[in-house]
Amino acid sequence: MSEKSDIEIAVRDVSIGYGSRVLMEHLNFEVKTGEIFCIMGGSGCGKSTLLKHIIGLYSPMRGDILIRGKSIVKAGGAERQAIMREFGVTYQGGALFGSMTLAENVALPLQEYTDKSPKEIAALVQEKLELVDLGGFGDYMPAELSGGMRKRAGLARAMALNPTLLFFDEPSAGLDPITSAGLDRLILRMRDRFGATIVVVTHELDSVFTIADRVVMMEKTAKTIVAEGDPVSLRDHSPNPWVRAFLSRDGLKSAGAGSTEKREGAQQNE
Ligand SMILES: Nc1ncnc2c1ncn2[C@@H]1O[C@H](COP(=O)(O)OP(=O)(O)OP(=O)(O)O)[C@@H](O)[C@H]1O
Ligand SMILES: [Mg+2]
Repeated sequence: MSEKSDIEIAVRDVSIGYGSRVLMEHLNFEVKTGEIFCIMGGSGCGKSTLLKHIIGLYSPMRGDILIRGKSIVKAGGAERQAIMREFGVTYQGGALFGSMTLAENVALPLQEYTDKSPKEIAALVQEKLELVDLGGFGDYMPAELSGGMRKRAGLARAMALNPTLLFFDEPSAGLDPITSAGLDRLILRMRDRFGATIVVVTHELDSVFTIADRVVMMEKTAKTIVAEGDPVSLRDHSPNPWVRAFLSRDGLKSAGAGSTEKREGAQQNE
């Protein structure tokens, strides 16, 4: 317990799925403190599902998930809540409350989980909005903003409680390359300024090569992790041709593997 460790998250022989359907099994990896760690894999392989298991929303079919040495799987309600409170999360495709201003959205976790005064909360909200370059937009409604601005506001809300563990599911999906690069810089800044450990699910190769210290790649047919390491080494040297193809655009075009970039028509049911 008191042993000092630089392992923030440990996933130990975990299987995930819905009902009796197993999506992934024998998942094993560790995320180190201060690391930006990407979870990759083809559409529908179970990336978002895995993320929801790590943050304690779902329980795995088997195996254990440790957050700073504590099992989030075995933790009871109150203990699990306490672990979850350390997290900042943005979910895929979501979601600011449309009927609230940006400032009200960012204030929400502070009102819910702290007993700070409205004045203190207002100051913290402003600080977070400035961090994501939305200092002047607190009074705007989400509908009045661009997609990139909404994504940034989502990050500001995820950071409201100064979490040291952040989870982002497809933070730059659907954004133009310049906006997406801005988001990458923001993620790097969060890690560098606050020493946060950040787990990102992403399909965007540019983003992976910019931000990721390490990645794991899950593959639908194998139903498990087929590669782990730094993305450049995997792209250039992985013994697995699917992994090399996935990580290199040319490879994707010629091998047609993964088809991660044509997601509109992607089948969700295998
Ligand atoms: N709540 C749920 N109940 C039952 N099945 C689900 C549920 N959520 C997701 N699934 C199914 O589990 C599979 C994996 O979904 P998941 O969203 O985890 O994939 P993903 O890798 O994040 O995909 P994408 O790249 O499209 O975001 C899909 O076949 C999906 O339809
Ligand atoms: Mg997903």
